[in-house]
Amino acid sequence: MNPLNHVAIIMDGNGRWGLKKHNSRNKGHRAGIDTVEKIIKISLEQKIKYLTLFAFSTENWKRPKTEINYLFSLLENFLEKKLIKFDKNNIKLKIIGKKNFSYKLNNLLIKSEKKTLKNSKLQVNLALNYGSKKEIVNTIKKLNKKKIKVTEQNITKNLYTKNIPDPDILIRTGNTNRLSNFLLWQVSYTEIFFLKKLWPDFEKKDFIKILNKYKKIKRNFGEI
Ligand code: IPE
Ligand code: IPE
Ligand code: MG
Repeated sequence: MNPLNHVAIIMDGNGRWGLKKHNSRNKGHRAGIDTVEKIIKISLEQKIKYLTLFAFSTENWKRPKTEINYLFSLLENFLEKKLIKFDKNNIKLKIIGKKNFSYKLNNLLIKSEKKTLKNSKLQVNLALNYGSKKEIVNTIKKLNKKKIKVTEQNITKNLYTKNIPDPDILIRTGNTNRLSNFLLWQVSYTEIFFLKKLWPDFEKKDFIKILNKYKKIKRNFGEI
């Protein structure tokens, strides 16, 4: 049975779900938040150590301003409401990506990270304004500036995900089989699961099914 430390998820399909059910993409984002809460709870139950959630990519700035603003207001509400509960449940929150949002949201994110810094049961990495190519380029620039040799190990140690083991599992919902600039460096040996279901429809049984499948996979890492 493979050990399981880190699950990463591309939470895709909110917009289509909202359009289909309520004729509004934003209603899909609203519903997607409930799935986030459910998956965090199951991750705790399953004793997963790291859960990385792709919430907003560097490319998502190309969307209409109204949708972007709605997404950030949802995130603000979510953190304001749930931070105390996360802290109580021994969850550590970490943002991966550049925090260049409103003054209010930036502060809330910093405050949430600080408040939960010492927690140790589950680390939830929220990928926000995250793009893998930017992350890699910036890391190499940083190494050069500090005159540190560019090696695989030194790159790994200087990404947003430093000190976090690579994902064991990557899940993408939303019936789209691509990575969309997510953790390109970190998923080189990750087991990838693409699901047809849209994110708001993703349920406990779907998650558990993947975890069980993963546990039985023969992971070679180049060996035989
Ligand atoms: C993913 O759902 C969530 C974000 C990118 C914020 P989408 O909004 O991409 O939903 P679809 O893919 O358009 O259905
Ligand atoms: C990836 O979904 C980003 C997030 C889930 C946050 P997108 O919906 O932005 O991906 P593309 O544009 O369809 O590849
Ligand atoms: Mg999408």
